Amino acid sequence: MTKLLDGKLLAKEIRNEISSVITNKILKENKRIPHLGIILTGNNSSSIAYVNNKIRECKNIGIKYSLIHLPINTLEKKLLEEIKKMNKNPYIDGFIVQLPLEKHINQDKIILSINPKKDVDGFHPENFGKMALNMKTFFPATALGILTLLEKYKIQISGKYTVIIGRSRIVGRPVSILMSRKSYPGNSTVTLTHSKTPNIEYYTKQADIIVVAVGIPKFLKGRMIKKGAIVIDVGIHNNNEKKILGDVDFCSVYGKASYLTPVPGGIGPMTRIMLIKNTLTAALNNREK
Ligand code: GUN
Repeated sequence: MTKLLDGKLLAKEIRNEISSVITNKILKENKRIPHLGIILTGNNSSSIAYVNNKIRECKNIGIKYSLIHLPINTLEKKLLEEIKKMNKNPYIDGFIVQLPLEKHINQDKIILSINPKKDVDGFHPENFGKMALNMKTFFPATALGILTLLEKYKIQISGKYTVIIGRSRIVGRPVSILMSRKSYPGNSTVTLTHSKTPNIEYYTKQADIIVVAVGIPKFLKGRMIKKGAIVIDVGIHNNNEKKILGDVDFCSVYGKASYLTPVPGGIGPMTRIMLIKNTLTAALNNREK
């Protein structure tokens, strides 16, 4: 029997906790409501959908947001100026620059220009380095969402063998760091596989936990996992029939895995709520008032 890991339900619980901190702490102490900045460039449909979902989450929970939507041909210089404004604006507690960026923009330069104290994505090298060294910092929202969901369902990761498919800075790499660190939750033995790994099945068949963030619909099949494996699907793809697919072939994995995240309703809502949680943390950390 496969149990579904309900990210939607857990995100709702966390949303209530955050709302209660806002009502019982921030507003009671006459402090300002947390404020998230979002910079979006271009018209990539997935990025627009992701940003709309983040905005919906801000509205649901009652935190403020400011969206700067720049056209596709925006120069790097203009984007850097907008980041500088967000860095300086005392009313913005934290902000993100939605990725990916257009080819003519140097992504590393952009991420380096974000004030690490406002980097609620946890992508700045200062924060990423702190994460790797197990120091307190913002953890990237998807990785944090995965760990929080596993913790909620009391799924042990310590001593377990985890295989991650995909090494992006947004998901695969931070998940590999957090799951292998000497901390709780952590202490997992991690293999980070990617597009140049030959015979990925060799690894996935041995894994107790598999995190799939490869960006290919239905990539992980039931025959690639061992019975009872825990499968986390980070993919999200709109196919032609308006059905949302993940990176996991749900039909063949369901029944063989012990736990599986659905798409939608698994990691997506967890990612969004963790971004809001990081924004709340930034608001509580950085402000006098
Ligand atoms: N693109 C896809 N996921 C993310 C994310 O979590 N943060 C940012 N900034 N861009 C993304």
